Amino acid sequence: MRIATVILIGIVCCEYSGANGSPRESHPCTVRQSRTSQSVGEDQCFLTDDDHHLWCFGDAYRLWSNNGSIDLRTLTICNWLLPSIDPREIISRFPYIKKLIIANSNLTTLSRAFPSDAKYLEKIHITGTQLQQVPREAFKYLSDLKILDVRNNALTKIDPAALVAPKLQHIHLAGNPWKCEDNTMTWILNMTHGSVARKILDRDKLHCAHPYEGRPLLPVVEIIATLREECNRTVCHCELVYVVGRVGKQTQRNLIAFVSTNCSHQGLRQMPEFIPANTTTLWLDGNQITDLSPLITNPVYRQVLDLYLDNNGITSIDQLEGSVWLDNFRVLSLRGNKLTDLPTYAFENVLLKSGNAVVSLYLGDNPWTCDCLFTPGFQDLLIRYTNLVKDVNKVRCNASKNLETLNKPIRDLTRTEICISESETTWLHPLDVLNIFLASMIITILGKLLYDYWSFKRTGKLPWLVTKIP
Ligand SMILES: *[C@@H]1O[C@H](CO)[C@@H](O)[C@H](O)[C@H]1NC(C)=O
Ligand SMILES: *[C@@H]1O[C@H](CO)[C@@H](O)[C@H](O)[C@H]1NC(C)=O
Ligand SMILES: *[C@@H]1O[C@H](CO)[C@@H](O)[C@H](O)[C@H]1NC(C)=O
Ligand SMILES: *[C@@H]1O[C@H](CO)[C@@H](O)[C@H](O)[C@H]1NC(C)=O
Ligand SMILES: *[C@@H]1O[C@H](CO)[C@@H](O)[C@H](O)[C@H]1NC(C)=O
Ligand SMILES: *[C@@H]1O[C@H](CO)[C@@H](O)[C@H](O)[C@H]1NC(C)=O
Ligand SMILES: *[C@@H]1O[C@H](CO)[C@@H](O)[C@H](O)[C@H]1NC(C)=O
Repeated sequence: MRIATVILIGIVCCEYSGANGSPRESHPCTVRQSRTSQSVGEDQCFLTDDDHHLWCFGDAYRLWSNNGSIDLRTLTICNWLLPSIDPREIISRFPYIKKLIIANSNLTTLSRAFPSDAKYLEKIHITGTQLQQVPREAFKYLSDLKILDVRNNALTKIDPAALVAPKLQHIHLAGNPWKCEDNTMTWILNMTHGSVARKILDRDKLHCAHPYEGRPLLPVVEIIATLREECNRTVCHCELVYVVGRVGKQTQRNLIAFVSTNCSHQGLRQMPEFIPANTTTLWLDGNQITDLSPLITNPVYRQVLDLYLDNNGITSIDQLEGSVWLDNFRVLSLRGNKLTDLPTYAFENVLLKSGNAVVSLYLGDNPWTCDCLFTPGFQDLLIRYTNLVKDVNKVRCNASKNLETLNKPIRDLTRTEICISESETTWLHPLDVLNIFLASMIITILGKLLYDYWSFKRTGKLPWLVTKIP
């Protein structure tokens, strides 16, 4: 049974050696030769490469009787099923090895650092395991270590101090699900002479795990470092929400960043002078902002697509009329401000252009005026773009002459409620008074004219006024 397995492995291997690339590199657990195999105990170990290379499956290395063989150069441990492995135990049995390979294993951690006894160890490959962390100074005492390969594991972060050894020059880290969003990997940007980052040969091949799935690590970490610096100049909290490759390319120059900046409840009296570049979503809820003109005048707002300004003191957004910002925004939230009206015509244009899809407006809980001048146009807008005004039921009359319309959703008012009933309730409008006055004047003058005509016919006397005209 065992022999059969080994032969099978051998066949697989030979097929691989026919293909390009080194099978040993990508499949370190494929035993190349089984001729000189020698099994000990329950699990198995095999010697290959003319006895310089020992392969052990499971924890069989512990049972290998010829430990300490001077000739042994390489030890490969495969299918290690336990979550941790003790480097000290390995080295105590094989103090002369030059190369250690641990592969295809369930290993998640090294239980401690490598001991200084491993004076000859030059290469360590731990690949294709579940390795999640490496102890601090894990390799520091290996005086001869030159190559460290920890590709294709489950590492999410690594302390640069774990990658230090006196002669270590080549480090491979690709194929791990690196965590990019906190500061833990920022050290990889430090390319000063002698830094650990310079020794990582596959720096460009590292990728981020969630939430930036598959994006290249270097540019993402760079973007986050810059963001942190810029954010520190504000009172806000900033987060890189999303990065996307331009036209599918994900090289350094071609990433587009989407940053969310949250300056809510900071007691701001005006919009911030500075926000991090690439801010696409800006939260300014619960401040005391009244003026929106920075949106037009300050270029830092050019990229802001989603703007939340709920619960501020904004009384008017007239100045946005015709602005570039208004032509490009995606979300504008103005709930709980002091708006009484709005430039209906400007919004009509914007919403029309947006093609009914991308734009969202929030206008509820404002003291909207309901009168015959502003409301009909506004209501028209609300009805036509009901799907874009997300809280249309909360857009209600606050100031109105018609008490019946108070606190009713503007969308649902009838024209008579808006216009006619208003004149009913205010039955002595100044204009009406003027009208009645003018009408009575006309009637008086016509009456006087008729009287004069009648009087002239009867008595032949001209009216008094006519006799006075020369
Ligand atoms: C080790 O991993 C293999 C496959 O990845 C799995 O089937 C096995 O149950 C694991 N063993 C242990 C002890 O975790
Ligand atoms: C060989 O292994 C045994 C335990 O299996 C240990 O007692 C002994 O010290 C080892 N010999 C060398 C030279 O390391
Ligand atoms: C960069 O690395 C060098 C060498 O390791 C170190 O001395 C320096 O403090 C690091 N710089 C930063 C900003 O971390
Ligand atoms: C933020 O800036 C202050 C000084 O303005 C500095 O002391 C602090 O370290 C900075 N924090 C970060 C995370 O850069
Ligand atoms: C961030 O903004 C700057 C300045 O607007 C721009 O040059 C840069 O390309 C943007 N970066 C990303 C990653 O979007
Ligand atoms: C913004 O920050 C405030 C606290 O400053 C918090 O209550 C709120 O939930 C944050 N909003 C978002 C969208 O993160
Ligand atoms: C009008 O608005 C004020 C504050 O904005 C609010 O307190 C009041 O309840 C509103 N009145 C009506 C009738 O909606």
